Amino acid sequence: MSTPLNTSSVWRDLQQHRQSWEGVTLRQLFQDDPQRARNFSAEACGLYLDYSKHLINPETLRLLITLARARHLEERRAAMFAGERINRTEGRAAFHVALRAPKGHVMRTAGVDVVPEVHKVLDHMAAFTRSIHDGTWRGATGQPIRKIINIGIGGSYLGPEMAWKALRPYRHPGMELGFVANVDGATFTDVTAHLDPAETLFIVSSKTFTTLETMTNAQQARYWVTSALGEAAVARHFVAVSTNVEAVKAFGMDTGHMFGFWDWVGGRYSMDSAIGLSTMLGVGVEHFTAMLAGFHAMDNHFQTAPLEQNLPVLMGLLALWYNNFWDAQTQAILPYAHDLARFPAYLQQLQMESNGKGVDEDGHPVTVDTGAIIWGEPGTDGQHSFYQLIHQGTRLIPCDFIGFCQPLSPLAEQHELLMANLIAQAEALAFGKAAEELRAEGVAEALVPFRVFPGNRPSSVLLGDRLDPHTLGALVALYEHSVFTQGIIWGIDSFDQWGVELGKVLAQRIVAELRSTARHPHDASTAALLQRYLQRRGS
Ligand code: F6P
Repeated sequence: MSTPLNTSSVWRDLQQHRQSWEGVTLRQLFQDDPQRARNFSAEACGLYLDYSKHLINPETLRLLITLARARHLEERRAAMFAGERINRTEGRAAFHVALRAPKGHVMRTAGVDVVPEVHKVLDHMAAFTRSIHDGTWRGATGQPIRKIINIGIGGSYLGPEMAWKALRPYRHPGMELGFVANVDGATFTDVTAHLDPAETLFIVSSKTFTTLETMTNAQQARYWVTSALGEAAVARHFVAVSTNVEAVKAFGMDTGHMFGFWDWVGGRYSMDSAIGLSTMLGVGVEHFTAMLAGFHAMDNHFQTAPLEQNLPVLMGLLALWYNNFWDAQTQAILPYAHDLARFPAYLQQLQMESNGKGVDEDGHPVTVDTGAIIWGEPGTDGQHSFYQLIHQGTRLIPCDFIGFCQPLSPLAEQHELLMANLIAQAEALAFGKAAEELRAEGVAEALVPFRVFPGNRPSSVLLGDRLDPHTLGALVALYEHSVFTQGIIWGIDSFDQWGVELGKVLAQRIVAELRSTARHPHDASTAALLQRYLQRRGS
């Protein structure tokens, strides 16, 4: 059996190295090294990463990279790109990198080059998208389709919704997208409230085509369409995206209007597969293709750049440094871009479903903490809400600031205010404000303790030129590979999600109790909740 991670020599070296950080300040580090910003920055695929405001020095990086090598990051990365079954508990490859391989590339899993199949589906998506945009595909009454509603949840929803919002300036004229995920009927009612069935197309997106929420909402949508337009309208108003042909057939949908993908695509790694059909319809084939090129560019960078300059590796190692050696429990994602409002939610699934694991790949309890809690909101909104705690609270919260040099709104002066705030926040967190500075400014002594900013609060700044489709693809792939880097070091399976199953099974049992006289044994709390609900739910 291999040495547990927490007793391995490099882990111990890092623990010891961490002790040398007591009393070290970022102020001092910047004073000592005028080249620090240059020395601790890297750039790839249009994204500039400034990681100089982290509690690291060259020795920290050397040790973290030694750790990555000791955990065979490079070999495991090669295994992922070679289509090996690295998702061991599900016996599958995690081959999402093949989804963005250009035509003509060869990417094999289980001996089969999947790139031709990938492009066959992309071509099918493109032809369908063009037929909707040019009006060749019309609704049952002959009206052009103007509204696309994606029904799906988790990985079959968060990426498409995030991308639709992120690519707002690139939207195809006249196209509107909506998303129905939650099983709460209020979602469906709200999203369809002002829609005309005659010009609405539903995409039922589900890898498994068995997910309770999606199947329930799809039935609801079918009822909504057929009540207005008749049974025959289904073929013109519904398409499916899934890996499960049989379930699509069983649902009564035409598999000719089905867009497939494969079991080697994890749900949270699927926004660039056919799950992205709504994105393609929303922004057009060319922009979707540019987004795939951005993903691919970052894949190449991750695969080939030396670890020391490799953006996903650096970001993964920094996250792990705070998670495991500074007891940071959370990481904030702070996009200074209104259009990236849903990016933190997207990253929550990507990171927490991937790395929220308590056993390693061999089934043994992990010996160190794994995935951090990911959260965040766009700046500057968050500044007037939770930043107080980040600046002066008792917890260390590493932050990822994400911003863009060029505005995509015509209000360029406001963009300056936005970016000034991003840059200022990272500066304030790192360097704070000392008591002496406050006194020199004449702040009353009694207020000094309250107005001190301790500083030394670490952050990365990711700067792109513009939030365009290519950059968005590169940004998502950057985080995908950062998650991979962390998972490999922790020795966990980042591609399964067994932790979501128990709640689903118990909910099904409770549904049966709510809909019949069947009763199952429950603990006293659950039984009392059920009883109260049954008594008060109304007719
Ligand atoms: O319940 C979790 C999960 O399985 C996610 O991993 C997945 O993205 C989501 O549900 C939706 O699954 P599906 O695409 O099969 O409907």
